[in-house]
Amino acid sequence: MNTRRPSRLSRWQEWSVYISCGLLIVSGIGWLIFDKWVHIAGEYGSEHHPLQHTTLILHGVAAYAFLIVAGTIIPVHIGLGWTLRRNRKSGMTFASICIVLALTALGLYYVGNEVLRDWASVVHWVVGLAALPALVLHAISGRRFE
Ligand code: HEM
Ligand code: HEM
Repeated sequence: MNTRRPSRLSRWQEWSVYISCGLLIVSGIGWLIFDKWVHIAGEYGSEHHPLQHTTLILHGVAAYAFLIVAGTIIPVHIGLGWTLRRNRKSGMTFASICIVLALTALGLYYVGNEVLRDWASVVHWVVGLAALPALVLHAISGRRFE
């Protein structure tokens, strides 16, 4: 039987991370493209494209899924990796990115002040763009323990 080391994610967890994180990144970048470059002509001038809102709904759904999956990997994956001192630097980097994203997302929902919300938005998507390389580096650097 093909068994996996306990420090590895189970197959469903590994794929759930890739799919939910991939969806987060694609929908986040989609929103940015619509916001910066794709507008439509409305009755009173340039307006947001209706699909921009769709990307945000997709993003919100993916965010719920990703945070649930991330929660399931804390006890074994992170706990064991940390104790065995394996892949700590890239793991901490990716985990910190996730925490900043979750906190700035709360800012996007609840901060009333417009200037602060704009800052939360910029920090959120700039850090969000770093999530893909950080996850890829983390997964690849984990291979050296095979
Ligand atoms: C301090 C935090 C973390 C540590 C110490 C850590 C440790 C590790 C280790 C040791 C591996 C290689 C596993 C092996 O081959 O035995 C790995 C791979 C991986 N980690 Fe992490 N990790 C951390 C955080 C995270 C987070 C937050 C996620 C995603 C939410 C994540 C997702 C993955 C994925 C997708 C892989 C590649 C698949 C695998 O080898 O299981 N890790 N990590
Ligand atoms: C832990 C991961 C993440 C969580 C929990 C999260 C959550 C959220 C939430 C709740 C919103 C606000 C939705 C709304 O206003 O209805 C949002 C907006 C956004 N997210 Fe994420 N997100 C994450 C990762 C990412 C990533 C990886 C990107 C990649 C670029 C990204 C880009 C964006 C963008 C561009 C917005 C719109 C900003 C604005 O309204 O000004 N997010 N995110």
